[in-house]
Amino acid sequence: MSRKVLIAGNWKMNGLMADSQALAKEIAVKVKALRPNAEVLVCPPFTLLTTVKKALRGSKVMLGAQDCSTFDKGAHTGDVSPIQLKDAGCDYVILGHSERRTDHKESSTLVKAKAESALNAGLKVIICIGETLDERKAGKALEVTSKQIKASVPSMSTASNTVIAYEPVWAIGTGQTATPDDAEEVHAHVRKVLAEKLGKGVATRMRILYGGSMKPANAADLLAKEDIDGGLIGGASLKAADFMEIISKVK
Ligand code: PGA
Repeated sequence: MSRKVLIAGNWKMNGLMADSQALAKEIAVKVKALRPNAEVLVCPPFTLLTTVKKALRGSKVMLGAQDCSTFDKGAHTGDVSPIQLKDAGCDYVILGHSERRTDHKESSTLVKAKAESALNAGLKVIICIGETLDERKAGKALEVTSKQIKASVPSMSTASNTVIAYEPVWAIGTGQTATPDDAEEVHAHVRKVLAEKLGKGVATRMRILYGGSMKPANAADLLAKEDIDGGLIGGASLKAADFMEIISKVK
């Protein structure tokens, strides 16, 4: 399979200038030495994008943000536009993370509009989906993730500008991880839904990351699965050693 693994660190609302600069520098140096068979991305909060960008200079490690506006500019107090993110040196933006869907009531329709704006600005997008614990218990994981894919992914998405992240909500930040088999079941299903939406060729090449308590101890088993093409890593991406250990598991 020709899909290049992507390991992305989602720093969430963590970090100040000094520690983030040190973390980014350490990751840059270690990735250079390791030369992994994976693309590596870090997604700090807005205030740290410029600092982290500078710390990553000369490194292949890419930069991403964690959200963006649907608008390019104008009277939208508190929002940050995809054009501004591109200008700050971002390659990627994470959209529709479950914390945004919950904290800010973001719907899949809004996520899709954000994705379209981001793609138009030349950013790549990581579109997050995932079921809650109640939905999983009710046997609705596949149904929920299908709906989210259909409503959140724009028709202009291609395998080179869009990445999907399957993040079961009950596994995020809880230490509870989906078993590799459970995760693979959803990943394979998501690829099928993507094929219906975007065509088989695009779906076969599009990367689907797993997220939700991925850590050094479980990364190898998850990444070994056919349809798991990388990870979106929260907690474990804040420690260079853990993040690097996960990256080192990529075959
Ligand atoms: P976690 O977060 O690795 O801390 O569970 C993943 C995410 O929310 O992207």
